[in-house]
Amino acid sequence: MERLQKVIAAYGYTSRRKAEELIKRQKVMVNGKIITELGTKVSPQDVISIDGVIINKDVKHEYYMLNKPRSVISSVTDDAGRITVVDLIDTEARIYPIGRLDYDTTGLILLTNDGEFANTLMHPSFEIEKTYIAKLDKVLTKDDILAIKKGITVDKRKVEVKRFKVKKRDLEKGTDIVEITIIEGRNHIIKKLFKELGVNVEKLSRIGYGFLDVKNLKSGEYRMLTIKEIKKLYALAKK
Ligand code: URA
Repeated sequence: MERLQKVIAAYGYTSRRKAEELIKRQKVMVNGKIITELGTKVSPQDVISIDGVIINKDVKHEYYMLNKPRSVISSVTDDAGRITVVDLIDTEARIYPIGRLDYDTTGLILLTNDGEFANTLMHPSFEIEKTYIAKLDKVLTKDDILAIKKGITVDKRKVEVKRFKVKKRDLEKGTDIVEITIIEGRNHIIKKLFKELGVNVEKLSRIGYGFLDVKNLKSGEYRMLTIKEIKKLYALAKK
């Protein structure tokens, strides 16, 4: 038995918080009865409907990895009418991105309609390695590099850097291209980290997410995750 709002989120219908609002607004029925209690528990056999539409029948979970292009927003819809990561994937399922990449960041992003999977991967305790390539508007000093490796404090919390290297240095233009691996997922974290050193990130791309890498996907291309990959991600989260 699981809490109703958790089950609604797990079916990918909406977030847990929004599910709670729907319950309070008497939009949710279990086995034909309106539920208003937030803690109500349901079993897999219970039929859940929202606004009269059954949500837990034949819902197939889908899992994708996308190589996000620039100028695409990491959300389901956009009020300003910009293209979203969901627009790029050809499916009828109500998928959404797991976490986000900035509008101008490219690279690997996962999408699913499995709320439990998404919640698990987005939880702060899930310390999966994320690797980025960043083009900087300056050449880093030795001290900068030491500071990055030691851990720069951003918004009162140190950013643990697992790996760092300068991949390419252009002394004429005064720019560095670096590869950096971190385990946390705060918004804009890479840009903020370099900002602490007075350095701007001109281009940013996520090339790796745990054991997944974006190498075989061109910009805008996507593929489904394999069962093995999904299980492996779950196993990493349970560690
Ligand atoms: N860090 C950033 O600054 N931007 C991203 O899109 C991802 C990580």
